[in-house]
Amino acid sequence: MKLRTLSGIDLRGKYVLLRDDFNVQIVDGKITEGFRIERSMPTIDFLRGAGARVAIVSHLGRPKGARDMKYSLRGVAEYMKLPFVSDCLDKSFMADMHDGDVVLLENVRFYAGEEENDAEFAKKLANGFDLFVNDAFAVSHRAHASTVGVTKFLPSYAGMLLQSEIDNLTAVMENPTHPVLSIVAGSKVSTKIDVLRALIRLSDTVIVGGALGTTFNFAMGEKVGNSLYESDQKENAISIMEYARENNCRFLIPLDKGVAPVFEPDAPRTDKTMDEILPDDVIIDGGPKTAARDVDEIGRAATVIWNGTVGMAEWMPTWSHGSFAIARAIAENTRNGKLKSIVGGGDTVACLDACGVMNDIGYVSTGGGAFLEFIEGRQLPGISVLMD
Ligand code: 3PG
Repeated sequence: MKLRTLSGIDLRGKYVLLRDDFNVQIVDGKITEGFRIERSMPTIDFLRGAGARVAIVSHLGRPKGARDMKYSLRGVAEYMKLPFVSDCLDKSFMADMHDGDVVLLENVRFYAGEEENDAEFAKKLANGFDLFVNDAFAVSHRAHASTVGVTKFLPSYAGMLLQSEIDNLTAVMENPTHPVLSIVAGSKVSTKIDVLRALIRLSDTVIVGGALGTTFNFAMGEKVGNSLYESDQKENAISIMEYARENNCRFLIPLDKGVAPVFEPDAPRTDKTMDEILPDDVIIDGGPKTAARDVDEIGRAATVIWNGTVGMAEWMPTWSHGSFAIARAIAENTRNGKLKSIVGGGDTVACLDACGVMNDIGYVSTGGGAFLEFIEGRQLPGISVLMD
């Protein structure tokens, strides 16, 4: 199976519907990180340079089929200095387009037909265009009208970001340099069971952290205080650790924690071993012994895959210690040529950015859920429809 790409396609004067993922963080109307937008630029510039007439379609947030202006993409259009079309089904802008013009359409999730992958809606969205390009890796795990539905009505191709994600992630998944270390954190074991099993099969060592790690501490009978973890996942956690043993994969859980009396950014921090944790303590970060162990493991790995911060990394500096230690160690070893590194997930990428090490990582994926599903080895519907 081969991905259909734009190479050799005559684009001059063609109306192109380009799916990007501009689901970016916006605070008080301002875009706080432009990572996904930056990574989308090569395809936009390529299409522009080839003389195509491009309308970018994207979602932002989860407006649930309603025209909720909190989720308008107008701010993104202003940030990108692009003309804005305030309804993604309005085609009147097309008549005024010249070769090389690019516009951004309003949030496609303002229509319920998008997430329902409704054929009529997809047909209306595709209407008037000559071809479709998907460059939105981060939403390609969703079978929606703008990722899958439109491909029934238009010749469809992969953009350069989508290709680069597939190439980089496939290289690590299919032929990793050992020893492979995977670091997985986040809040829920229940959403990460499949990815943990896949990473156990691939890795020599798996480290779990964050609330996910706390669930494993709990499963091992350790003290976890009044913290975020899933008590109903004890059996699953134990079976994952058994699965690791069967697959000769070392499975490492947190050794100590940074705790506070309340779950708040300004709460005072105390570092405690698991034994010292009291019933009212709230775990907000990994502790110093855990961070030192993680740095040591990263130093011994040849490949690191990282998804999920191991504490509330955005509550800097008190609660970012564990995640920043991991980010810096991965960056340093990658910079020194000792490590191949691959990082994905919105909070994890934001942590790299906050640490100033974004450019020192081997490959940073734009995907969150899509990154995890790809690593699990699942077929992403938005990619499958672009294969011959
Ligand atoms: C993401 O941010 O992971 C993608 O944009 C997908 O968003 P969704 O989870 O709302 O479908």
